[in-house]
Amino acid sequence: MKTDINKLRELIRYHERKYYIDDQPEITDAAFDALMRQLEELEKASADDIPSDSPTQRVGGGVALGSRIPHRSPMLSLDNTFGKDELLDFGKRVQRILEDEPVEYVAELKIDGLGVSLLYENGVLVRGLTRGDGEFGEDVSGNLRTIRAVPLRLISTDDNPVPPVLEVRGEVFIPKHLLDDINVQREAAGESPFANPRNAAAGSVRTQNSNVTAKRPLDIFIYSLNYVEGLEVQTHTEALVKLKGFGFKCNPYTELQNSLEDVFIYYNQWVEKREEIPYEVDGIVVKVNDISQQRELGSTAKSPRWATSYKFPAHQTITTIEKIEVQVGRTGVLTPVAILKPVKLAGATITHATLHNEQEIRNKDIRIGDTIVLERAGDVIPKINDVLKEKRTGDEIVFQFPDVCPTCDTPVQRSETEVAVRCVNAGCSAQLKRRIAHYASRNSLEIEGLGPATVNQLVNNDLVQDVADLYTLKVEEVGKLERMGPGLTHNLLHQIEHSKQASAAKLLVGLSIFHVGETVAEVLMDHFLSIDALSQANAEAIEVIPGIGPQIAESVATFFAQNRPLIEKLKAVGLKCFTEEVVKTPQVLEDPFFSGKTFVVTGSLPDMTRTEASTQIKARGGKVTSSVTGKTDYLIAGEGAGSKYDKAVELGVEILTAEAFFEHLGEN
Ligand code: IVH
Repeated sequence: MKTDINKLRELIRYHERKYYIDDQPEITDAAFDALMRQLEELEKASADDIPSDSPTQRVGGGVALGSRIPHRSPMLSLDNTFGKDELLDFGKRVQRILEDEPVEYVAELKIDGLGVSLLYENGVLVRGLTRGDGEFGEDVSGNLRTIRAVPLRLISTDDNPVPPVLEVRGEVFIPKHLLDDINVQREAAGESPFANPRNAAAGSVRTQNSNVTAKRPLDIFIYSLNYVEGLEVQTHTEALVKLKGFGFKCNPYTELQNSLEDVFIYYNQWVEKREEIPYEVDGIVVKVNDISQQRELGSTAKSPRWATSYKFPAHQTITTIEKIEVQVGRTGVLTPVAILKPVKLAGATITHATLHNEQEIRNKDIRIGDTIVLERAGDVIPKINDVLKEKRTGDEIVFQFPDVCPTCDTPVQRSETEVAVRCVNAGCSAQLKRRIAHYASRNSLEIEGLGPATVNQLVNNDLVQDVADLYTLKVEEVGKLERMGPGLTHNLLHQIEHSKQASAAKLLVGLSIFHVGETVAEVLMDHFLSIDALSQANAEAIEVIPGIGPQIAESVATFFAQNRPLIEKLKAVGLKCFTEEVVKTPQVLEDPFFSGKTFVVTGSLPDMTRTEASTQIKARGGKVTSSVTGKTDYLIAGEGAGSKYDKAVELGVEILTAEAFFEHLGEN
């Protein structure tokens, strides 16, 4: 009986490998499912414990988000090389340290996903960690186990016996073409879509519920053997052969190169062919093949000297503008948005691009019907790079910016000092919807399950007139909304209740005060320590804080003067930050890259709020301000970077993608 079960497990593992790793299934899905059912039956009937490496044990393992498990050796990031000259410079540095010994290089694809480490003891997967801050990772074992290309048990043969301890590292990713499917489902469930396959992979691995991960089409490529006991390998390519023998999935396009000239040819080939690969690749990685040479070269605090990455240029594509719509933001600002003929770009279907403001449309002479070049670099949202005026037929239409709010018909307000055009009707339902969605968002009070679709329903059914009304919603009221079953209702009300624990800075961000984002909110709370104290302050008292200018001070003071009843309502429903003091920013650990420099953070960063990013910068001795000026050293541009990005380009301020920022932090 025992041998039957074990044979069946082996057979299923074999077919899992054929399907998920070799991409050459030998049996039909139905036949595979039948084998699985048979195994489940046998395991149910057996008195023995089910081993953790049984193919039936993929879902249900533990995940400890927020845990800090030390990596055996730091998970470093890679230095970036830009252009052929820098690639050759990398080679010169290597040659200098190795005193002109012959060097072999390996070129591989840089997969744009989430770096993880997997630990095997006696061939059995015992732990999976995220990269975390490079020193410590989070235990996401239960989620990584659900990925069918992650072996729960390794293959051991006489020629290639599995070592007692083995740690590998690799990249978890979602195939590009499946991102749209996931986003359709997310939007139907009222959740915001993932902007790119990498965010989708990260979001799927960093979740508390392994059932969610199991439903996502995650895959993995193992790119290094990081630690092993009882096995000697001389080269990286030899290690990859061993790893494939143990049953790991390694990328098939890894190639040994004779010289950096050949690496450059490899790079150019993939610049041409990158769209053909079914997963997102953002460049190539070049590695010194010989392991003893790698050891001799060693690493800096952030990256190994024996490897570098060489990124591909930004993705570009051409499409046309079908219409221009005007959206009303949470502070009443009217933002024109180009509705595009849907087009694929960097693994996602793009249908919209912001046009920022009325002036931008005029300056660039953007017209409805125009053919445009859409570009997307790294994590930055797509932007219109160029208008192809030579493609005009004469049928293009000049856009008339509206004089009334498209939602409530109130005449718009134009100001002398700002490019923004506003709807000033405080009761405008479009604004209210945006304010509530913002209040619930990750950078604010983080109310899971309160996405745009649910907010629409709450406002359209008159259940909420302001954010404080969320806390007095009743089960019966929410339960009768469309698509809100008892489970979702319970969960939503639970999450709303839980949001009462949020910090004062988060609440301040959530209130949608003009000019108050995460950075300003932190600075204000660091100074005033409570919302009550801040709400009593006049503009002069706020303006004395370093980094807070008169515009912000005026905006904050005016907000509190006009919204006293809302603040009293929030206090009355029991938000914790009204009764607890703010904790000051922690002690500084100087870092030469950050120290003494001024940063601005804009857009949303994968896996990190802007507040966290600011805390990290400040903790390394950097300064964070809210607007881009001549004094700004770096702009960190996440998804959705808009006017600050343009300002930085205009002033020649260096722009860091989220990825480059994480590399400097030592977190990727
Ligand atoms: S090797 C010491 N190889 O890129 C660093 N990394 O910025 C060793 N990545 O965190 C990394 N594809 O998660 C390596 N073929 C590849 C890779 C790869 C993607 C990721 C990895 C790393 C990041 C570096």
